[in-house]
Amino acid sequence: MTLHCTHPHLEQICHQGRVNTSDVLGVKNSDLVPGKYEGGLKLWEGSLDLVKTLNSDIKDDRLLMEGKHVLELGCGHGLPGIFAGLKGAALVHFQDFNAEVLRCLTIPNVKANLFKESSETSRSVGFYAGDWSEIDKLLLRGDAVQDKTTNLHTENEGHRGYNIILMAETVYALDSLPSLYRLIKKCLHYPSGVVYMAGKKHYFGVGGGTRQFLRLVTEDGAMQSDLLAEVTDGSSNVREVWKFSFK
Ligand SMILES: C[S@@+](CC[C@H](N)C(=O)[O-])C[C@H]1O[C@@H](n2cnc3c(N)ncnc32)[C@H](O)[C@@H]1O
Repeated sequence: MTLHCTHPHLEQICHQGRVNTSDVLGVKNSDLVPGKYEGGLKLWEGSLDLVKTLNSDIKDDRLLMEGKHVLELGCGHGLPGIFAGLKGAALVHFQDFNAEVLRCLTIPNVKANLFKESSETSRSVGFYAGDWSEIDKLLLRGDAVQDKTTNLHTENEGHRGYNIILMAETVYALDSLPSLYRLIKKCLHYPSGVVYMAGKKHYFGVGGGTRQFLRLVTEDGAMQSDLLAEVTDGSSNVREVWKFSFK
């Protein structure tokens, strides 16, 4: 994939065709440096599981992407969000902890896949960097500014926003699960919004996992959960894809 980048320092790195943590963020090559680099530069297995599940749900008429407003949380490469755009979503917002990841990886990927010169498009995309504990204001304000003409729900209007929230490999750290869940409840369209979550059943060493997130959702009681896929391909410990919707 060709990489393009507008940031002067990052441009040089992006033209190498590969990005790594030490060049982009100045941290030693690592999957994760908590609170500094949250894993967005690596392509994790869960994002592919998520795309496959979305594809099956679309094929089986369980999911309609056309015209929908979609948010991908913890996007990194942004493959699920890009897939949503290719399947007709009207608006796709990408969120990552690190602005550098968005600039150097997500945006070039989105440009290469959703804005090919030959293809006409009316879809709207946005990129948001920040921590889940405080990014709701930005996301909801972003919607209000970009979509005044639609009936997309915003906080100010007493509504809730996205039709579909996607996230892959975002539930590894136990500490961040409550803020992630709070964010989802604030940003998801009520009552018809749905969340697709892919991740590992358990993340060894960091304590989180799909089942820990599920526990939070179940205890809160506002949403119902459905297990859509279980992946045991041996490339990692057991992975799952879940769907959540308001009861
Ligand atoms: C393991 S990476 C997964 C990246 C991508 N979804 C994939 O599957 O390839 C986790 C993602 O969650 C985001 N993330 C983790 N903790 C976060 C937090 N507290 N606030 C905002 N984003 C966070 C990171 O930016 C990162 O992109």
